[in-house]
Amino acid sequence: MSEWPRILVTGADGQVGRALLRNFGGSAEVIGYNRKALDLSDAGQIRRKVREAAPDVIINAGAYTAVDRAESERVLAMAVNGNAPGVLAEEARRASSLLVHYSTDYVFDGSKDGPWVEEDATNPLNVYGASKLAGEEAIRATGGRYLIFRTSWVYAAEGSNFVLTMLRLGRERDSLNVVDDQIGAPTTAAELARATHTIVTGVLEDRFGAEDHWPGLYHMTCGGKVSWCGLARAIFKRGSALLEGRKPKVNAIATSEYPTPAMRPKNSVLSNEKLRRRFGVRLADWEQALDEVLGEIPKQQNEQKHLK
Ligand SMILES: NC(=O)c1ccc[n+]([C@@H]2O[C@H](COP(=O)([O-])OP(=O)(O)OC[C@H]3O[C@@H](n4cnc5c(N)ncnc54)[C@H](OP(=O)(O)O)[C@@H]3O)[C@@H](O)[C@H]2O)c1
Repeated sequence: MSEWPRILVTGADGQVGRALLRNFGGSAEVIGYNRKALDLSDAGQIRRKVREAAPDVIINAGAYTAVDRAESERVLAMAVNGNAPGVLAEEARRASSLLVHYSTDYVFDGSKDGPWVEEDATNPLNVYGASKLAGEEAIRATGGRYLIFRTSWVYAAEGSNFVLTMLRLGRERDSLNVVDDQIGAPTTAAELARATHTIVTGVLEDRFGAEDHWPGLYHMTCGGKVSWCGLARAIFKRGSALLEGRKPKVNAIATSEYPTPAMRPKNSVLSNEKLRRRFGVRLADWEQALDEVLGEIPKQQNEQKHLK
């Protein structure tokens, strides 16, 4: 029998799921389930699959992440984001394993001036945020060992995200209008996975002390802050080699000029102080993390070409 811990990762085909599989691959027996292998909208299937896998740690990287579509798919968003985390928490508790879960900056309404801390009052503006908050509450209510990491504006060199969308549009258009009055901390899946790996490994090796010390809710984002417009400009400046010679202009617009089905918070910058104090973990600043992803994109695109 392997002496490595058994780690079950849900949403294994997602941005964070893939990064987790890469990070834990060399130090754990990783069981990665994508939506086809484990559908989080089916509570019975969750219980069966978790019991079969008997993991030491469950990392729930699966989620309904289509923020605008959630406005018209409330039932499904609530099942996946609100109900499934509670079922996973019950199964983790039953087996005395650890549940690691990701939540979102969108649990807040964006009205605060400074960075949001874990104790701040939540008030989601959209269905996605409400469903993720329901998931946090379901985990807390179960009372097992858990870590919830709230993060924001996640992207990677693969998947569906703002950075890849901007690069595609930048190759197609001479100018783009991008919202400048929503501020957040863009966070890479790789940074999240590295931090998760450090913390989970530390917990398994008993490095963070007794269980009244470390379980709970933490904010986990890259350092710094920027608007979507500022991020688009940084992508074009730092990733100019990916634009096939184009130099698109980015025009700053207000949220009111770009109506979407879901409302979004103006300020969703999270304070990472609690994470740093409790675990000594700090993610890279967003610009440095962006450079890493921009450097990774040609490699990913090459691999995808070879797969076709
Ligand atoms: N992306 C962001 O900007 C952001 C911001 C804050 C917090 N977060 C949180 O961070 C975590 C990771 O997100 P991510 O960026 O990696 O998202 P992602 O790339 O959209 O990955 C989510 C994965 O969950 C899967 N999934 C959807 N419905 C499912 C179901 N019913 N059963 C099983 N799997 C299902 C998706 O599969 P399909 O592709 O087959 O649908 C996808 O592979 C999530 O908890 C998310 O809420 C993300």
